[in-house]
Amino acid sequence: MSEVEALRAGLVADIDGAASLDALEALRVGALGKQGVVTALLKTLGGMSPEERLEKGPPIQDLRESVTNAIATRKAALEQAALDARLASERVDMTLPAGDVPVGSIHPVSQVMDELAEIFADLGFSVATGPEIEDQWYNFTALNMPESHPARAMHDTFYLRAEEGVESYVLRTHTSPVQIRTMKAVAQKTGGAGEPIRIIAPGRVYRSDSDATHTPMFHQIEGLVIDKGIHLGHLKWTLETFLKAFFERDDITLRLRPSYFPFTEPSVEVDVGYSLENGQRVIGGSGDAPGGGWMEVLGSGMVNRRVIAAGGFDPDQWQGFAFGIGIDRLAMLKYGMNDLRAFFDGDLRWLKHYGFSALDVPTLSGGVGA
Ligand code: PHE
Repeated sequence: MSEVEALRAGLVADIDGAASLDALEALRVGALGKQGVVTALLKTLGGMSPEERLEKGPPIQDLRESVTNAIATRKAALEQAALDARLASERVDMTLPAGDVPVGSIHPVSQVMDELAEIFADLGFSVATGPEIEDQWYNFTALNMPESHPARAMHDTFYLRAEEGVESYVLRTHTSPVQIRTMKAVAQKTGGAGEPIRIIAPGRVYRSDSDATHTPMFHQIEGLVIDKGIHLGHLKWTLETFLKAFFERDDITLRLRPSYFPFTEPSVEVDVGYSLENGQRVIGGSGDAPGGGWMEVLGSGMVNRRVIAAGGFDPDQWQGFAFGIGIDRLAMLKYGMNDLRAFFDGDLRWLKHYGFSALDVPTLSGGVGA
């Protein structure tokens, strides 16, 4: 066996027996690296005569090729073995319980808004909206609160900065401007003739006020019905029907108290009775029973003639009623929360506790999952 042939056999045997990729790499460097034995042999070719090179060259080239091939083959085998080992040890066990995935929840305010929209949809009301940055005319003037009217001062209004001589916009202090916007749109659409209106308008409103039961931003829902021959009885029935559906009890009692709003005449404030059940205050039953009481839930009344006229309707033909309800307040009453500020803190623990599942929403119609 020639020297070159012996070297080839030895190297190939070592390579075939390499136990790891690291060991194989060491062998490659020892044979084909700069100082490698095969490299050294290849270098000798340069100093040979052409005849000698013709004789000794091919076996040396063969040697290099065999070693290169042997390394490639062994490398592929070692890599395949490593992959097999990983596949065996890193098998995914599909029966293991999945890790925790954070899940969001529906905010109680959104939940209550959905519930209200659903209850009023059943009564034939559609949903209307208006801007939160509002014209003073819509927020006050058209609602029978002319400039210098003391009721304007009753609302702690946020005024936006305006140029000299230009009336500033306000952050709407209630959802009542949507009454005017809706009436005007209908009056325009019908060429001044008018047609019946039944809308609710939920949304954000703003007043400069902050304590445990007041936040500078809060939510209201406005209701407006315009038709011919509408009277206080329609208002009372509508509110009673709505409150029974919302609190999911038939024994809801209402107390209507005379009140004052510039945009309604007569105006009534509505209280709902609560009673003591197992030491807990719950909405329902007569508020006059021992341990019970009355909770104010909304303001309402027959739409003032001036407001009907400002909306572009003829007050001699059309009448209506309107109401405004604090949504946050309703949510607190129904779901037992006592600090309004927590509604808007964005504390995840609070949201987790009081929030509703998006997939299993206990809405009145059974939720998406039903
Ligand atoms: N806009 C009134 C408020 O914010 C509520 C209300 C609405 C009263 C409609 C009567 C009619 O206090």
